[in-house]
Amino acid sequence: MTVPTTTLNDGRQIPKIGLGTYGLRGEAGIASMLAGIKSGYRLLDTALNYKNEHEVGEAVRRSGVAREEFLVTTKLPGRHHGFDETLASFEESRANLGLDFVDLYLIHWPLPKVGKFVESWQAMIALREDGRVGSIGVSNFTEAHLAMLIEETDVTPAVNQVELHPNFPQAALREFHLAHGIATESWSPLAVSASITSNSIVTAVADAHGVTPTQAVIRWHLQLGAIPIPKSGDPERQRENLDVFGFELTEEEMASISSLESGRLWGADPDTHEEF
Ligand SMILES: NC(=O)c1ccc[n+]([C@@H]2O[C@H](COP(=O)([O-])OP(=O)(O)OC[C@H]3O[C@@H](n4cnc5c(N)ncnc54)[C@H](OP(=O)(O)O)[C@@H]3O)[C@@H](O)[C@H]2O)c1
Repeated sequence: MTVPTTTLNDGRQIPKIGLGTYGLRGEAGIASMLAGIKSGYRLLDTALNYKNEHEVGEAVRRSGVAREEFLVTTKLPGRHHGFDETLASFEESRANLGLDFVDLYLIHWPLPKVGKFVESWQAMIALREDGRVGSIGVSNFTEAHLAMLIEETDVTPAVNQVELHPNFPQAALREFHLAHGIATESWSPLAVSASITSNSIVTAVADAHGVTPTQAVIRWHLQLGAIPIPKSGDPERQRENLDVFGFELTEEEMASISSLESGRLWGADPDTHEEF
């Protein structure tokens, strides 16, 4: 299937669903990614810290799909914050991927106590200006972190990739994104570890549409205007997760899923979480 796209604030297109790749490594990981690409995924989400950029690049090369069709995302780790460090880290990622161009480059975590995310952002702006990166964005940034970037550089991130699922719908942050033209990407969209897909509210919505609970949750993300990046290594589940464009949740169903709000999955508060 062809996954529909949406337009970022820099004019570039992004697929409305992507494939998370955390944990997909080695030949088995490449095979899983190739299966995903065959099903229609074109947005592949990785990070230097996932230690699988090589596998992502290999999957792109072996797929037989034109390079321009892909949106490859990778991320700057915390240990490489700073202007020069960001440029060097980007080159490390680019070498791992074996790609000339990275479609979307994100700052993985803000690390406000380290206090260098504005410097990193200035390096990302330079990378975009010299054409090595298509779009630049951030991950796990709060409204305050975003406001600081915008105020200090006048460049608004194209994307903020954040924890978002029925237990943590992020209404206030999504509103801020909307007001500033920032696309929301949802990580851990299925909240599998919280068993969200076996929740009776979710299963009731799924039954009403003759879809699986996972499909109901992915559809909820789409109707919130967020871009989910579910990870699956299994070709059948990958296809299931893409097959969400033939039904629509009602406003009541959307609200019932959002009512499951209970908090973050593992307490990764961007103001305090340190990940290097
Ligand atoms: N920016 C950040 O800080 C950050 C943090 C966390 C994650 N991420 C990104 O977000 C991606 C997704 O997050 P995630 O991997 O934590 O969680 P997720 O995508 O919500 O859930 C992945 C889990 O769900 C299972 N699954 C997938 N589809 C399923 C289906 N249709 N039915 C039943 N089970 C299904 C997968 O198992 P199988 O593989 O066996 O199908 C896997 O165990 C990551 O891979 C990564 O790219 C980013």
